[in-house]
Amino acid sequence: MSKKNMKRILITGATGQIGSELTIELRKRYGGDNVVAAGHKRKPGGKLLESGSFEFIDTSDRESIKKIVEKYEIDTIYHLAAVLSATGEENPQLAWHVNMDGLYNMLEVAREQGVTKVFWPSSIAVFGPEAPRVNTPQNTVLIPRTMYGVTKVAGELLCNYYFAKFGLDVRSVRYPGIISSETPPGGGTTDYAVEIFYEAINKKRYTCFVREDTVLPMMYMPDCLKAAIDLMEADPSKIKCRTSYNLGAISFSAGELVAEIRKYIPDFKVEYKPDFRQKIADSWPMSIDDSAARKDWGWKPAYDLASMTKDMIEKLTRRLASEF
Ligand code: SER
Repeated sequence: MSKKNMKRILITGATGQIGSELTIELRKRYGGDNVVAAGHKRKPGGKLLESGSFEFIDTSDRESIKKIVEKYEIDTIYHLAAVLSATGEENPQLAWHVNMDGLYNMLEVAREQGVTKVFWPSSIAVFGPEAPRVNTPQNTVLIPRTMYGVTKVAGELLCNYYFAKFGLDVRSVRYPGIISSETPPGGGTTDYAVEIFYEAINKKRYTCFVREDTVLPMMYMPDCLKAAIDLMEADPSKIKCRTSYNLGAISFSAGELVAEIRKYIPDFKVEYKPDFRQKIADSWPMSIDDSAARKDWGWKPAYDLASMTKDMIEKLTRRLASEF
């Protein structure tokens, strides 16, 4: 590959749930030196730090982004840094600041510095109670009730604007809850679907913060990474939607997840004590119509509830055992 065609990638939120695994995956594909991981406060350890460069970026400070984009001649950005839905309800001002100012600064730097492509994740949180909850369509009414959802709707419109006005190649998907075994999520409504595995393996009991019959759309990390990379690699002519693509994978209730985990840990005990996150979950879709993503750029998830649970239990059992 000539230097001109070489991808130089920046990932913000690289120490987070998705960022920590996406960084490693992109480094495998494009080389450790070509993928710069950026975090805000937390310095990573292990593989993330050893496999390539790490920088601190404050996304609310445009200069700090610009400095890194110039230093590494970045041409592709995955902007993942964000405050999630539950933390966002505890501190809506912070959610607006981090999610909106951060995205605006990132898009401005990308435009000014001639960055060619930007990936920015949206979420099922863009939908509110007025949208159909089963097989939620790509184009429907978007009136979210959380500040997180508000920032995702506004962010989608901003991305679409930067594409139409400035020709910036911004691409986005509306992720469902992401389940993974490497880095736990923080501050989301769908976090129970990850916590439950840690508690099942460590303590054989879990107190779930949503009701047993709560159904939400979820996705296993390998599919989450594949979605981001496939979308970013797709020919621009295939990307017909410049707000954000609906993305579905698995939908199940908390009770169904417990039943699946009990196939491996039969004496697993669960109590349900819904808290403020129940209301958020009840305002979100239960399943997603992702036919546009399937048609336009060939989206197809690989994991279902059974194969995701099996892999999570195996990976996490191994990892947690090695930590003791
Ligand atoms: N996982 C996110 C949350 O629960 C949804 O995008 O906030």
